[in-house]
Amino acid sequence: MKRRNLLKSALFWLMGAVLSWPLFSFIDRRRYRPPREQRISMKLKPGQFVVEPEFVLFQTVNGPVAVSRTCTHLGCRINYLEDEKIFLCPCHQSRFTSKGRYISGPARKDLVTFRVSPMEDGQSVTVYLPA
Ligand code: FES
Repeated sequence: MKRRNLLKSALFWLMGAVLSWPLFSFIDRRRYRPPREQRISMKLKPGQFVVEPEFVLFQTVNGPVAVSRTCTHLGCRINYLEDEKIFLCPCHQSRFTSKGRYISGPARKDLVTFRVSPMEDGQSVTVYLPA
């Protein structure tokens, strides 16, 4: 009899854990995660840019702009073509302006831009990337 109760109890807790797993994983995903910070330590003049693995940082007359290199179609890593001043996705040839605006191709959305803040030293900026 004790063994039967033990098995029932174990089965009860096991079923509870299995059934509540989707709920807890959903709550965990919705939890706030602070953005990652990437510091670029170089002074750029307007018109210059830096290519990083996750974004391209442009220095404009209005300040620095960081444009994501992740394609909004299926997530390929996009290349920036300096001569044409466009982003070109190597996977399905979606094209975007240097500001990340959609031009052509299967991707229908603009590229994501990241928040950039200049540091107090005036020589570097911090780019805030999603967690
Ligand atoms: S992944 Fe970039 S166009 Fe398809």
